[in-house]
Amino acid sequence: MSEQSVSIKTTGKVIQSPCGPIIHGLEDVLVKMTTISDIDGQTGRLWYRGYRIEDLAENSSYEEVVYLLLYGKLPNEKELAEIRERLAKNRELNPATVEVLRALARGHPMFALEAAVATEGAFDPDNLKLADALRAGRYKQEEKELALRIAEKLVAKLPTMVAYHYRFSRGLEPLRPKPDLSHSANFLYMFFGKEPDPLATKAVDLYLILHADHEIPASTFTALVIGATLSDLYSIIAGAIGALKGPLHGGANEAAVKSYLEIGDPAKAKELAEAATKPGGPRLMGVGHRVYKAYDPRAKIFKRLVEDYVNKFGDPQKLFAVASAIEQAVLAHPYFQQRRLYPNVDFWSGIAFYYMGIPYDYFTPLFAMSRVVGWTAHVIEYWENNRLFRPRACYVGPHDQPYIPLKQRS
Ligand code: CMC
Repeated sequence: MSEQSVSIKTTGKVIQSPCGPIIHGLEDVLVKMTTISDIDGQTGRLWYRGYRIEDLAENSSYEEVVYLLLYGKLPNEKELAEIRERLAKNRELNPATVEVLRALARGHPMFALEAAVATEGAFDPDNLKLADALRAGRYKQEEKELALRIAEKLVAKLPTMVAYHYRFSRGLEPLRPKPDLSHSANFLYMFFGKEPDPLATKAVDLYLILHADHEIPASTFTALVIGATLSDLYSIIAGAIGALKGPLHGGANEAAVKSYLEIGDPAKAKELAEAATKPGGPRLMGVGHRVYKAYDPRAKIFKRLVEDYVNKFGDPQKLFAVASAIEQAVLAHPYFQQRRLYPNVDFWSGIAFYYMGIPYDYFTPLFAMSRVVGWTAHVIEYWENNRLFRPRACYVGPHDQPYIPLKQRS
């Protein structure tokens, strides 16, 4: 292959190294072409397959968005009915996965989710068939269709895993999925053991729509890195869940609600925002974004739903009041203005869940339940023109050190 010099435009941090510039955190580095989602970070806009997130949030269901992201078009009535049926049919778990969830009931659900996804993958014959085909260098229409079916299975099964973990962690028996309920209503039914309030179902469905894809955040990049090695789809998703768990990514919704509960009083919001502006101070969780240098459009949409929710059911622990006061403090403070730091999607999302009775360690699993469709869609797209990721590091240590035998080392 011929050597080419490539210049990369970045507004991010560049470290000058002896080997050349290092784009810290790969900010603005392009890794693939995509037709799945697009973000305009400067004006705060997001599209899935060319559709504005506001239109999808207003008019569609999560099942429609799943179809859109996987198949590239909005489903007609027949296609929607068929994907709903396939998703409902695939909700059950392998008994081994159920046992893993039971065994990990005391740990954080994100540990259990990673392990459950990996376990389920070991028993899914379609997954093993696709892995064999990839290993043999075969990725044609048949394999792509198989990959899409596996993606649907993952979308269908993650809510069951999350609900089963919750029930085991509370000493409750798991409930079999109900095929006649929608994706979101069934999740809430399996979680709480009763058919949910329509506003609660709407909150979960909206959350799932808003989180379904977001171009190449850390977890999607992780999925691509694992996918490019031609690993199997369940292992790819288990890895992506590991990346999502971090507080700088999917873990921020949990951390945000914890901080609202901790301060407990809107009058203390300014103090919290001020502390985050000090060198070495704690970051405000749910604020700032690598791509958005404007108010996150998803946060705007979810804020309205949280507002409806607290108007209907109240704000007994002042979570919405505290978050609103922090929002005001952030928008007014020169530190956040100069750095173009605004509330992101995680700023509001946990409030509705907390009030619905979903414990905050289940917020990030809900994120994974949604994003699983984006992760699989990106990997399936990348496999059309796959290339292993293999970046380099600039070594700045010594070479050819004299080897000292163990007993002679001080
Ligand atoms: N609170 C206080 N200061 C902040 C924050 C924050 N939440 N976020 C960024 N900054 C400051 C940071 O200290 C730096 O200041 P300076 O230039 O003086 O050193 C400047 O803003 C730029 O920060 P950065 O770390 O270079 O920005 P980044 O693009 O690497 O970070 C981020 C993006 C999301 C990791 C960061 O904004 C953050 O840690 N936010 C809190 C965690 C969070 O809400 N994460 C969810 C992200 S959205 C959901 C998702 O995609 O998963």
